[in-house]
Amino acid sequence: MHPIHAPFPQGRFRRTRRTAALRDLTQETRLSPQDLIWPLFLREGEALREPIASMPGVNRLSLDLVVKAAAEARDLGIPAICLFPYTDPSLKTEDCREAWNPDNLTNRAIRAIKAAVPEIAVMTDVALDPYNSLGHDGLVRDGVILNDETLAALVRQALVQAEAGADIIGPSDMMDGRIGAIRAALESAGHKDVAILSYAAKYASAFYGPFRDAVGASGALKGDKKTYQMNPGNRDEALRLVARDLAEGADMVMVKPGMPYLDICRRVKDTFGAPTFAYQVSGEYAMIKGAALNGWIDGEKAMLESLLCFKRAGCDGILTYFAPDAARALQGL
Ligand code: PBG
Repeated sequence: MHPIHAPFPQGRFRRTRRTAALRDLTQETRLSPQDLIWPLFLREGEALREPIASMPGVNRLSLDLVVKAAAEARDLGIPAICLFPYTDPSLKTEDCREAWNPDNLTNRAIRAIKAAVPEIAVMTDVALDPYNSLGHDGLVRDGVILNDETLAALVRQALVQAEAGADIIGPSDMMDGRIGAIRAALESAGHKDVAILSYAAKYASAFYGPFRDAVGASGALKGDKKTYQMNPGNRDEALRLVARDLAEGADMVMVKPGMPYLDICRRVKDTFGAPTFAYQVSGEYAMIKGAALNGWIDGEKAMLESLLCFKRAGCDGILTYFAPDAARALQGL
């Protein structure tokens, strides 16, 4: 682009900012409910709405209420929801076998949602952490996270989710080779139309703290995830990971966390042109919500500004806990 602008006073940038109409007319990027994916936390039980202390306004929902939330998303024009289970500690093991139980909480939720609200796209998380007594996304032996052994487990987990009716599989584990392995397994099992949204550039981040509370993984996790999640200091590696995942059969890619990584979003979109998403993670939500609840910022304005900035940075959509509030605000509800 070669911007040309008349010098002052012929050129005055304030002309196009003078009224709301002129600002609307010249706005370069926009946010709409259709850009949003709403992450939801599941728990066992009925008619249960369990608050998460570090994420004010977000609750773990029993299946009946998750189905209602899916209908609410549809009514608000939100195209997709993403499911995360809170797993009872008694179901967590070192071999993580609950992950590929066809009747685990997530798979029951997928079936219930697809039966009641077939229009909504259901996305699932593929990683072992909700089911791992050691809290890691992969299998662990003697304190080491085992890449290749984990792939088989991830494939089993993805297949039962596809079988249950998931529209979008979201591998968030950061093992090498998972996208290719999952794509090949989906093809041979006849799930050729199931999409993969790869958590391609996922950083080892302090901003996941509240999420780990929400899914009950904080207590279990020993150590950190730095041997598989990315170093926040790296940029070129994110592009290499996205290239790799697209080449292995990912349909869409994600950068995570969101706001501190907008430079990565922009580079990924400009380099590959693939459908690109960012995850505005739990800690980002908690920061905005916490400041708003203290009266330090205007919560609604900060929420909408933060989400619009993802669009400006090149994202096609955003996973955000603000999804229903943002959709309501955008529709003037
Ligand atoms: C786990 C997973 C995490 C998130 C999504 N999937 C946490 C982690 O990697 O420890 C984080 C989401 C958030 O913080 O909102 N595979």
